[in-house]
Amino acid sequence: MDLEKRDQLRRLVLWTAAITAAHLLVGTQSHLVHGGHILLGALYMFPVLKGAVAFGLRGGVLTALAVMALYSVHVLVSWSGRPMANQDQWAMLGAYLFVGVSAGVLVRQADRHRWERDEVIARSARSETIRGLTSLAIALGERDPDSLRHSEHVARVCEALGAEVGLSRHEIDRLRLAGLVHDVGKIGIADDVLFSSGQFDEQQRRAMHEHPLRAAAMVRTIYGGEDIAAIVEAHHEQPDGSGYPKGLRGQEIPFAARLLRVADVFAALSEMRRYKPAMTRESVMETMHAMSGPSIDRECFEALERALNKGLIQDAPSAASPVVQGTAPHA
Ligand SMILES: [Fe+2]
Repeated sequence: MDLEKRDQLRRLVLWTAAITAAHLLVGTQSHLVHGGHILLGALYMFPVLKGAVAFGLRGGVLTALAVMALYSVHVLVSWSGRPMANQDQWAMLGAYLFVGVSAGVLVRQADRHRWERDEVIARSARSETIRGLTSLAIALGERDPDSLRHSEHVARVCEALGAEVGLSRHEIDRLRLAGLVHDVGKIGIADDVLFSSGQFDEQQRRAMHEHPLRAAAMVRTIYGGEDIAAIVEAHHEQPDGSGYPKGLRGQEIPFAARLLRVADVFAALSEMRRYKPAMTRESVMETMHAMSGPSIDRECFEALERALNKGLIQDAPSAASPVVQGTAPHA
Protein backbone atom coordinates (compact mmCIF):
# COMPACT_ATOMS: atom_id res chain seq x y z
CA MET A 1 0.00 0.00 0.00
CA ASP A 2 1.49 3.40 -0.98
CA LEU A 3 1.96 6.27 1.47
CA GLU A 4 -1.11 8.21 0.35
CA LYS A 5 -3.39 5.18 0.70
CA ARG A 6 -1.91 4.40 4.11
CA ASP A 7 -2.62 7.97 5.19
CA GLN A 8 -6.22 7.71 3.93
CA LEU A 9 -6.67 4.47 5.88
CA ARG A 10 -5.31 6.11 9.03
CA ARG A 11 -7.77 9.02 8.68
CA LEU A 12 -10.60 6.56 8.09
CA VAL A 13 -9.81 4.74 11.34
CA LEU A 14 -9.47 8.05 13.24
CA TRP A 15 -12.82 9.36 11.97
CA THR A 16 -14.56 6.09 12.83
CA ALA A 17 -13.00 6.12 16.32
CA ALA A 18 -13.94 9.79 16.87
CA ILE A 19 -17.56 9.23 15.80
CA THR A 20 -17.77 6.11 17.99
CA ALA A 21 -16.40 7.99 21.01
CA ALA A 22 -18.75 10.95 20.48
CA HIS A 23 -21.72 8.61 19.91
CA LEU A 24 -21.07 6.75 23.15
CA LEU A 25 -20.36 9.93 25.15
CA VAL A 26 -23.52 11.72 24.07
CA GLY A 27 -26.17 9.86 25.96
CA THR A 28 -29.95 9.83 25.75
CA GLN A 29 -30.81 11.85 28.84
CA SER A 30 -33.24 14.23 27.11
CA HIS A 31 -35.01 14.36 23.72
CA LEU A 32 -32.51 16.93 22.50
CA VAL A 33 -29.44 14.95 23.59
CA HIS A 34 -30.97 11.76 22.23
CA GLY A 35 -31.44 13.54 18.88
CA GLY A 36 -27.71 14.31 18.89
CA HIS A 37 -27.00 10.67 19.75
CA ILE A 38 -29.02 9.48 16.74
CA LEU A 39 -27.33 12.07 14.50
CA LEU A 40 -23.91 10.76 15.54
CA GLY A 41 -25.04 7.23 14.65
CA ALA A 42 -26.00 8.52 11.19
CA LEU A 43 -22.56 10.20 10.90
CA TYR A 44 -21.04 6.73 10.49
CA MET A 45 -22.07 7.24 6.85
CA PHE A 46 -19.12 9.65 6.57
CA PRO A 47 -16.29 7.08 7.01
CA VAL A 48 -18.27 4.69 4.79
CA LEU A 49 -18.37 7.31 2.01
CA LYS A 50 -14.72 8.16 2.63
CA GLY A 51 -13.81 4.47 2.39
CA ALA A 52 -15.60 4.21 -0.98
CA VAL A 53 -13.94 7.36 -2.36
CA ALA A 54 -10.46 6.28 -1.22
CA PHE A 55 -10.61 2.55 -1.98
CA GLY A 56 -13.55 2.05 -4.38
CA LEU A 57 -16.28 -0.54 -4.00
CA ARG A 58 -14.18 -2.80 -1.80
CA GLY A 59 -13.35 0.14 0.49
CA GLY A 60 -17.01 1.14 0.75
CA VAL A 61 -18.16 -2.38 1.59
CA LEU A 62 -15.35 -3.11 4.08
CA THR A 63 -15.82 0.21 5.89
CA ALA A 64 -19.58 -0.39 6.01
CA LEU A 65 -18.97 -3.87 7.50
CA ALA A 66 -16.58 -2.41 10.11
CA VAL A 67 -19.10 0.29 11.05
CA MET A 68 -21.91 -2.32 11.16
CA ALA A 69 -19.84 -4.45 13.56
CA LEU A 70 -19.18 -1.45 15.85
CA TYR A 71 -22.80 -0.36 15.79
CA SER A 72 -24.05 -3.91 16.45
CA VAL A 73 -21.90 -4.13 19.60
CA HIS A 74 -23.35 -0.79 20.76
CA VAL A 75 -26.93 -1.95 20.11
CA LEU A 76 -26.39 -5.28 21.88
CA VAL A 77 -24.62 -3.75 24.89
CA SER A 78 -26.47 -0.44 25.34
CA TRP A 79 -29.95 -1.27 24.07
CA SER A 80 -30.59 -4.90 24.97
CA GLY A 81 -34.12 -5.57 26.04
CA ARG A 82 -35.54 -2.58 24.03
CA PRO A 83 -37.04 -4.44 21.06
CA MET A 84 -38.89 -1.43 19.58
CA ALA A 85 -35.77 0.79 19.58
CA ASN A 86 -33.65 -2.12 18.34
CA GLN A 87 -35.67 -2.43 15.11
CA ASP A 88 -34.68 1.14 14.14
CA GLN A 89 -31.06 0.43 14.95
CA TRP A 90 -30.84 -2.87 13.08
CA ALA A 91 -32.29 -1.08 10.05
CA MET A 92 -29.36 1.37 10.26
CA LEU A 93 -27.01 -1.54 9.57
CA GLY A 94 -28.71 -2.03 6.20
CA ALA A 95 -28.42 1.70 5.51
CA TYR A 96 -24.64 1.62 6.16
CA LEU A 97 -24.20 -1.29 3.78
CA PHE A 98 -26.42 0.32 1.14
CA VAL A 99 -24.41 3.55 1.27
CA GLY A 100 -21.09 1.64 1.15
CA VAL A 101 -22.13 -0.41 -1.90
CA SER A 102 -23.81 2.42 -3.84
CA ALA A 103 -20.99 4.91 -3.17
CA GLY A 104 -18.46 2.25 -4.22
CA VAL A 105 -20.37 1.57 -7.47
CA LEU A 106 -20.62 5.31 -8.23
CA VAL A 107 -16.89 5.79 -7.59
CA ARG A 108 -16.12 2.85 -9.87
CA GLN A 109 -18.28 4.34 -12.64
CA ALA A 110 -16.63 7.76 -12.22
CA ASP A 111 -13.16 6.13 -12.40
CA ARG A 112 -14.17 4.31 -15.56
CA HIS A 113 -15.45 7.49 -17.20
CA ARG A 114 -12.26 9.32 -16.24
CA TRP A 115 -10.13 6.46 -17.62
CA GLU A 116 -12.11 6.46 -20.91
CA ARG A 117 -11.73 10.24 -21.23
CA ASP A 118 -7.97 10.03 -20.53
CA GLU A 119 -7.67 7.23 -23.11
CA VAL A 120 -9.39 9.35 -25.77
CA ILE A 121 -7.11 12.31 -24.99
CA ALA A 122 -3.97 10.10 -25.03
CA ARG A 123 -5.05 8.46 -28.30
CA SER A 124 -5.67 11.75 -30.06
CA ALA A 125 -2.36 13.16 -28.77
CA ARG A 126 -0.59 10.06 -30.05
CA SER A 127 -2.20 10.26 -33.47
CA GLU A 128 -1.20 13.93 -33.67
CA THR A 129 2.41 12.92 -32.91
CA ILE A 130 2.35 10.15 -35.51
CA ARG A 131 0.81 12.45 -38.14
CA GLY A 132 3.49 15.09 -37.51
CA LEU A 133 6.36 12.60 -37.64
CA THR A 134 4.94 10.91 -40.74
CA SER A 135 4.83 14.31 -42.47
CA LEU A 136 8.53 14.76 -41.76
CA ALA A 137 9.26 11.28 -43.09
CA ILE A 138 7.25 11.99 -46.25
CA ALA A 139 9.18 15.24 -46.73
CA LEU A 140 12.43 13.26 -46.49
CA GLY A 141 11.05 10.79 -49.05
CA GLU A 142 10.30 13.66 -51.44
CA ARG A 143 13.91 14.77 -51.11
CA ASP A 144 15.48 11.31 -51.19
CA PRO A 145 13.31 8.18 -51.57
CA ASP A 146 16.27 5.94 -50.63
CA SER A 147 16.58 7.66 -47.25
CA LEU A 148 12.89 7.13 -46.54
CA ARG A 149 13.08 3.48 -47.56
CA HIS A 150 16.10 3.09 -45.28
CA SER A 151 14.23 4.83 -42.42
CA GLU A 152 11.26 2.47 -42.74
CA HIS A 153 13.66 -0.46 -42.70
CA VAL A 154 15.34 0.94 -39.57
CA ALA A 155 11.93 1.46 -37.93
CA ARG A 156 11.05 -2.22 -38.46
CA VAL A 157 14.41 -3.40 -37.07
CA CYS A 158 13.96 -1.05 -34.08
CA GLU A 159 10.59 -2.64 -33.36
CA ALA A 160 12.13 -6.13 -33.34
CA LEU A 161 15.07 -5.00 -31.15
CA GLY A 162 12.77 -3.20 -28.70
CA ALA A 163 10.68 -6.36 -28.30
CA GLU A 164 13.82 -8.50 -27.95
CA VAL A 165 15.24 -6.41 -25.09
CA GLY A 166 11.85 -6.34 -23.33
CA LEU A 167 10.83 -2.68 -23.76
CA SER A 168 7.22 -1.78 -22.99
CA ARG A 169 4.73 -1.32 -25.85
CA HIS A 170 4.98 2.45 -25.40
CA GLU A 171 8.82 2.39 -25.50
CA ILE A 172 8.81 0.16 -28.60
CA ASP A 173 6.45 2.59 -30.35
CA ARG A 174 8.70 5.50 -29.44
CA LEU A 175 11.79 3.66 -30.70
CA ARG A 176 10.05 2.68 -33.94
CA LEU A 177 9.03 6.30 -34.56
CA ALA A 178 12.57 7.46 -33.76
CA GLY A 179 13.76 4.98 -36.41
CA LEU A 180 11.31 6.43 -38.93
CA VAL A 181 12.52 10.01 -38.47
CA HIS A 182 16.15 9.52 -37.43
CA ASP A 183 17.47 10.91 -40.70
CA VAL A 184 14.95 13.68 -41.44
CA GLY A 185 17.76 16.16 -40.72
CA LYS A 186 19.08 15.18 -44.15
CA ILE A 187 16.25 17.23 -45.67
CA GLY A 188 18.38 20.30 -44.99
CA ILE A 189 21.65 18.91 -46.38
CA ALA A 190 22.89 20.18 -49.73
CA ASP A 191 22.63 17.88 -52.77
CA ASP A 192 26.42 17.59 -53.29
CA VAL A 193 26.69 16.11 -49.77
CA LEU A 194 23.43 14.14 -49.58
CA PHE A 195 23.89 12.48 -52.96
CA SER A 196 27.67 12.20 -52.83
CA SER A 197 29.03 8.73 -53.50
CA GLY A 198 32.64 9.48 -52.68
CA GLN A 199 34.62 10.67 -49.67
CA PHE A 200 33.52 13.88 -47.95
CA ASP A 201 35.86 16.83 -47.60
CA GLU A 202 36.02 18.47 -44.16
CA GLN A 203 33.22 20.95 -44.84
CA GLN A 204 30.93 18.26 -46.27
CA ARG A 205 31.68 15.97 -43.34
CA ARG A 206 30.76 18.72 -40.89
CA ALA A 207 27.53 19.40 -42.78
CA MET A 208 26.63 15.69 -42.69
CA HIS A 209 27.40 15.49 -38.98
CA GLU A 210 24.78 18.15 -38.33
CA HIS A 211 21.91 15.91 -39.46
CA PRO A 212 21.12 14.37 -36.02
CA LEU A 213 20.80 17.86 -34.49
CA ARG A 214 18.74 19.12 -37.42
CA ALA A 215 16.48 16.06 -37.16
CA ALA A 216 16.06 16.46 -33.40
CA ALA A 217 15.17 20.14 -33.84
CA MET A 218 12.46 19.21 -36.37
CA VAL A 219 11.08 16.35 -34.28
CA ARG A 220 10.99 18.57 -31.19
CA THR A 221 8.54 20.91 -32.90
CA ILE A 222 6.02 18.06 -33.24
CA TYR A 223 3.53 17.67 -30.38
CA GLY A 224 4.76 14.79 -28.17
CA GLY A 225 8.08 14.57 -30.03
CA GLU A 226 10.43 15.55 -27.15
CA ASP A 227 11.39 12.01 -26.10
CA ILE A 228 11.77 10.88 -29.69
CA ALA A 229 13.99 13.89 -30.45
CA ALA A 230 16.37 12.84 -27.64
CA ILE A 231 16.76 9.38 -29.22
CA VAL A 232 17.20 10.80 -32.72
CA GLU A 233 19.81 13.32 -31.59
CA ALA A 234 22.08 10.57 -30.22
CA HIS A 235 21.77 8.00 -33.02
CA HIS A 236 25.33 8.55 -34.26
CA GLU A 237 26.97 8.55 -30.83
CA GLN A 238 29.41 5.68 -30.27
CA PRO A 239 30.34 3.87 -27.03
CA ASP A 240 34.03 4.90 -27.31
CA GLY A 241 33.10 8.58 -27.58
CA SER A 242 34.11 8.95 -31.23
CA GLY A 243 30.57 9.56 -32.45
CA TYR A 244 28.69 12.81 -33.03
CA PRO A 245 27.24 15.36 -32.38
CA LYS A 246 28.27 15.39 -28.69
CA GLY A 247 30.86 12.60 -28.44
CA LEU A 248 28.89 10.87 -25.65
CA ARG A 249 30.36 7.64 -24.23
CA GLY A 250 28.91 4.26 -23.20
CA GLN A 251 26.03 4.65 -20.75
CA GLU A 252 25.83 8.41 -21.40
CA ILE A 253 24.13 7.49 -24.66
CA PRO A 254 20.42 6.82 -24.10
CA PHE A 255 19.70 3.08 -24.36
CA ALA A 256 17.07 3.64 -27.05
CA ALA A 257 19.62 5.60 -29.13
CA ARG A 258 22.09 2.70 -28.80
CA LEU A 259 19.41 0.33 -30.09
CA LEU A 260 18.61 2.75 -32.91
CA ARG A 261 22.29 2.90 -33.90
CA VAL A 262 22.48 -0.89 -34.11
CA ALA A 263 19.32 -0.95 -36.25
CA ASP A 264 20.68 1.90 -38.43
CA VAL A 265 24.05 0.23 -39.05
CA PHE A 266 22.42 -3.15 -39.70
CA ALA A 267 19.97 -1.64 -42.20
CA ALA A 268 22.60 0.51 -43.93
CA LEU A 269 24.98 -2.43 -44.44
CA SER A 270 22.16 -4.73 -45.61
CA GLU A 271 20.81 -2.27 -48.20
CA MET A 272 22.06 -1.56 -51.67
CA ARG A 273 23.19 2.05 -52.12
CA ARG A 274 24.21 4.12 -55.11
CA TYR A 275 27.82 3.64 -54.10
CA LYS A 276 27.75 0.04 -52.77
CA PRO A 277 26.00 -3.30 -53.26
CA ALA A 278 23.92 -4.88 -50.47
CA MET A 279 26.01 -7.05 -48.15
CA THR A 280 25.00 -10.60 -47.31
CA ARG A 281 23.55 -11.23 -43.84
CA GLU A 282 26.77 -13.07 -42.89
CA SER A 283 29.07 -10.20 -43.94
CA VAL A 284 26.82 -7.68 -42.21
CA MET A 285 27.03 -9.60 -38.95
CA GLU A 286 30.78 -10.13 -39.29
CA THR A 287 31.31 -6.41 -39.86
CA MET A 288 29.06 -5.49 -36.96
CA HIS A 289 30.72 -8.05 -34.70
CA ALA A 290 34.02 -6.23 -35.28
CA MET A 291 32.32 -2.90 -34.45
CA SER A 292 30.65 -4.28 -31.32
CA GLY A 293 32.12 -2.64 -28.21
CA PRO A 294 33.81 0.56 -29.39
CA SER A 295 31.48 1.56 -32.21
CA ILE A 296 28.13 -0.05 -31.42
CA ASP A 297 26.74 -1.14 -28.07
CA ARG A 298 27.56 -4.79 -27.34
CA GLU A 299 24.32 -5.54 -25.48
CA CYS A 300 22.24 -4.09 -28.31
CA PHE A 301 24.24 -6.01 -30.92
CA GLU A 302 23.62 -9.25 -29.02
CA ALA A 303 19.90 -8.41 -29.03
CA LEU A 304 20.16 -8.05 -32.83
CA GLU A 305 21.78 -11.50 -33.09
CA ARG A 306 19.00 -13.04 -31.00
CA ALA A 307 16.26 -11.27 -32.98
CA LEU A 308 17.77 -12.52 -36.25
CA ASN A 309 18.07 -16.08 -34.92
CA LYS A 310 14.38 -15.96 -33.98
CA GLY A 311 13.46 -14.73 -37.46
CA LEU A 312 12.05 -11.45 -36.10
CA ILE A 313 13.83 -9.36 -38.76
CA GLN A 314 13.04 -9.62 -42.45
CA ASP A 315 15.46 -9.04 -45.32
CA ALA A 316 16.24 -5.52 -46.56
CA PRO A 317 13.47 -4.03 -48.73
CA SER A 318 14.11 -3.79 -52.44
CA ALA A 319 14.04 -0.44 -54.26
CA ALA A 320 10.51 -1.27 -55.41
CA SER A 321 9.10 -1.65 -51.89
CA PRO A 322 6.35 0.78 -50.94
CA VAL A 323 7.25 3.76 -48.80
CA VAL A 324 5.19 5.73 -46.24
CA GLN A 325 1.49 5.93 -47.12
CA GLY A 326 0.78 8.04 -50.13
CA THR A 327 4.28 8.29 -51.53
CA ALA A 328 6.14 6.14 -54.02
CA PRO A 329 9.77 6.04 -55.01
CA HIS A 330 10.73 8.53 -57.70
CA ALA A 331 11.39 6.98 -61.06
FE1 LIG B 1 21.83 9.20 -39.46
